[in-house]
Formats: sequence, C-alpha cells, structure tokens
Amino acid sequence: MAIQWYPGHMHKAQKEIKQALASIDVIIEVIDARIPYSSSNPVIAELKDFKELQRPIIKLMNKSDMADPRLTEVWRCEFENQQNVKALPVCARENFELAKIKDLVRKLAPQRINKQEAVKAMIMGIPNVGKSTLINALAGRKIAKTGNEPAITQRQQRIDLDDIILFDTPGILWPKIENDHSSFRLAISGAIKDTVVNYEEIGFYFVEYLAVEYPTVIPEKYQVELCFDPDGGFDAYQTIEAIGKKRGCLVGGGKIDRDKACKIIINEFRNTTLGGLTLETPTMIGQELIEVEEKIRLKALKKAERKNKPGKR
Ligand code: G4P
Repeated sequence: MAIQWYPGHMHKAQKEIKQALASIDVIIEVIDARIPYSSSNPVIAELKDFKELQRPIIKLMNKSDMADPRLTEVWRCEFENQQNVKALPVCARENFELAKIKDLVRKLAPQRINKQEAVKAMIMGIPNVGKSTLINALAGRKIAKTGNEPAITQRQQRIDLDDIILFDTPGILWPKIENDHSSFRLAISGAIKDTVVNYEEIGFYFVEYLAVEYPTVIPEKYQVELCFDPDGGFDAYQTIEAIGKKRGCLVGGGKIDRDKACKIIINEFRNTTLGGLTLETPTMIGQELIEVEEKIRLKALKKAERKNKPGKR
C-alpha cells in the first residue's frame, strides 16, 4: 500500500521551516511514541545535511500512555545516541513531564539564558501526534485547535511562555512516504486521513504484526485463537474472520463483514483497548531502510535504462 497524502500547504510549510530556522535556538519535534520513526519529521532528518541549520532537537515521544513502555525506552536510548538529540517520553493529555520539557529547552540554549533573553523554540510534528494538546498544556490555556482530523493546524503562530517563545508550525507529513511499512503504521495510528485509508488493508497488516510481536493480544482480547494454514504460516484472513464472527460482523448469507471487523480492531488499537502497543522497533526500521535504499537504487537504474534506450535523448 502506498499512501501519499500531502495537502498543498505542507510543501509551503517545509520551505517556511527552513527559512524560520535561522532565528531558532531549539527544535521541539513531537512524535507519536507508538510509531517513533514513522512519525518523525523528514525535514528535520534532512537538517543533518545543512550544517548551518543544525539545532539541538528535543524529540517528545507523546502518547507514551498508549505505547509499549519497554519499546519506548528502547527508542528513547536510540534517539539519545543521535547527535544533537534529546528524547523524552511524555503524555500531553495527562500533563505528564511538562515541566521537564521547559527545563530541557532552557538547558539547550544557555547562550540565551545567560543573557536573560527568551529562548526561541520551534515546535513541529506530523498531524495527530498531539502537538496542539501539548501546546495548550504548556501554555496553560487553549491556543491551537485540537481534533482527531489530521492537518487541522494550518497557520504558523507564536506562543509566549515567559522565558520561552514557541513557534508553532503546521503539521507536516512526507511529501512521499518511501517506506511502505511507515504508510501502514501512520494509517493505523490515525495520522493519515481516514478517508484515504482502506480499513481491511491496514487491518490485515496490523493483525499480522500482532501475531508476531504481541501473540497473546488477540487470544486475550478477542477470545479467539490465532489461525494457521496447513504449512504453519499465520493465517490473518481466518483470524480476522474469527474475530468478525465473535463480534457479530455479519453480512447476508452468514458471511463475515471483514471491513467492519478490521474497523473494530483498528479502533480498539487507537483507543488502547488492546493495551499499550508500539508498531515498530529500531531493528525493524534498520532492515526496512536497507530495502528502501535498494528500491530507490533499482528505480533510478530503470529510469537511466529508459533514458539510454536507442531513439531516446
Ligand atoms: P495534532 O495537533 O498533532 O494534530 O493533535 P491533537 O493535539 O489534536 O491530538 C490528537 C488526538 O490525540 C486528540 O484526541 C488528543 O486528545 C489526543 N492526544 C494528544 N496527546 C495525547 C496523549 O499524550 N495521550 C493520549 N492518549 N491522547 C493524546 P481526540 O480524540 O481527537 O480529541 P479529544 O477527545 O481529546 O477532544
């Protein structure tokens, strides 16, 4: 599944971010603790290539209450090993660790604090990571619109937090998501507009992931055994049918409405009925990035071949 979702204003926002960075001391990147890699901002990753634009980055792993605590810690260590990066698991909805965020911002801009100047921080994050909730919590008042529809915050704004000035930027997704797995995870988490999401497709992906990484979740939460085919491979189709049957997702002729069953499963992940789960690990991402590079290499090769075909100039 290749999801490509990029409202027009996002390209503009990327340009604006690069321009605005000149006067910024610290970048606060809000990510979703359930998908720490897939919800990270590619523009920020790119900054490593522009020495003059490098700034300390605080990765706020929001929604940590919805993630697997063991993997949150694995990811925190992974991020902290990166140059210029600090990582902090937070929960904006519960005001968890908010004081620590401000302390960290101040600590990363001693040049401003020493001169008794306000620290300029840019806050960014892809849609639905909880950026608006976090801004409201930090400011102690309702500032940006919040809601579960991605891309609701569309304009840049400035928020004064005494000795810190926060510059809010619109939610930004990939112009193109190269890693197909990231597309699935973003859709499952709710970061991609539901109107472009096929529930059955992401439901199959999610159930397959659960069977491998969290094999007790389906039997415990749905009272359904995992199904396997005669070769011993996991059978997502039969498992989803069994869940659908259990939950009364029926259409005419006693058939199972798999789309409805998948919707139930995805929604129960999104509202944490299935418990705190994380959809990716650093090891998985490492492997996937190798595959992505290979895909890009082959694509470039094909393009060059087409260009060099006799008769083409
Ligand atoms: P955005 O600006 O990044 O697009 O995200 P926003 O703050 O609108 O948050 C999206 C949804 O995520 C909201 O839920 C919000 O309450 C929820 N959320 C934000 N931070 C956390 C967190 O740390 N933990 C949990 N569990 N949820 C969080 P909603 O259902 O759309 O709205 P509402 O029910 O809060 O009104």
